[in-house]
Amino acid sequence: MNAAVFAFEETQAQARALAACLDIASHDVCVRSFPDGESLVRVPSAARTALLFRSLDHPNAKLVEILLAASALRDGGAERVMLVAPYLAYMRQDMAFHPGEAVSQRVIGNLIAAHFDGLVTVDPHLHRIADLGEVIRGIDVLSLSAAPALAKAIEQGLREDTILVGPDIESRPWVESIAKPLGLEVLVGEKQRFGDRQVRLVLPHAGRARGRPAILVDDIISSGTTLLACAGLLRDAGATSVEAIATHCLASAADLAHLTANGIDRIRTSDTVPGSVAEISIAETLAGAIRGQGWIG
Ligand code: R5P
Repeated sequence: MNAAVFAFEETQAQARALAACLDIASHDVCVRSFPDGESLVRVPSAARTALLFRSLDHPNAKLVEILLAASALRDGGAERVMLVAPYLAYMRQDMAFHPGEAVSQRVIGNLIAAHFDGLVTVDPHLHRIADLGEVIRGIDVLSLSAAPALAKAIEQGLREDTILVGPDIESRPWVESIAKPLGLEVLVGEKQRFGDRQVRLVLPHAGRARGRPAILVDDIISSGTTLLACAGLLRDAGATSVEAIATHCLASAADLAHLTANGIDRIRTSDTVPGSVAEISIAETLAGAIRGQGWIG
């Protein structure tokens, strides 16, 4: 077999959707956890090109297991093992902010480069580095944007006076690339973070949202604190409704419930991380890039 997708249990549906778009087989990777916490990974018959599919939210055990799976695939005859990680972890810690801290981005980047022949991911959370190829060196790296898929999702039933709102400067690329094809007005806030769940946000020109529906756009919903603060400002400014759309949702069910109980009418994200709000399939985006790069021959 030339190429196949290999899927861990929690993202089987997303992996199968990708395999269907690429018109190749999808196989399940089996993981058994021992009582002492170690993992045993088993892969079915390998393919010449193996696309190992796993999103790296809650990454610590998953990272070990993808290394074990990559090794098993090579032992089974794979000539190339490509990691399909729609969500890529550890990209935020790109420097030692305090003495003694590890630069996690560099460590994890080197680990992936050492064990895989290629990586495809979506909207990696990079701050001071523009190109993911600077972090993961020497292998084929595809860094994709979910913005076109998110724009397509909000297009249906969209009111033309809708205003798109980025809560902070980092969200500007996403909010602008979604607003442009839809011809929507944009507002971008300014955020200061004081802790995991403590932010101060200002939204210049918030009055522009009065009497209009607003859609918040961000790359990641983590605790939801950023969206909550911004939704409050939009409600105070007189927005008629507030929805949120993002690439990745890492938030817990309790945090999502808190958001919807406190001023956010609807939350939608891409399915880079499976979950209750992951409504927007990213399979076509991944498949187009993988095909375009010639990974599956
Ligand atoms: C910040 O740079 C990101 O774009 C997100 O705004 C942030 O990661 C969201 O985190 P939280 O949901 O915890 O506020």
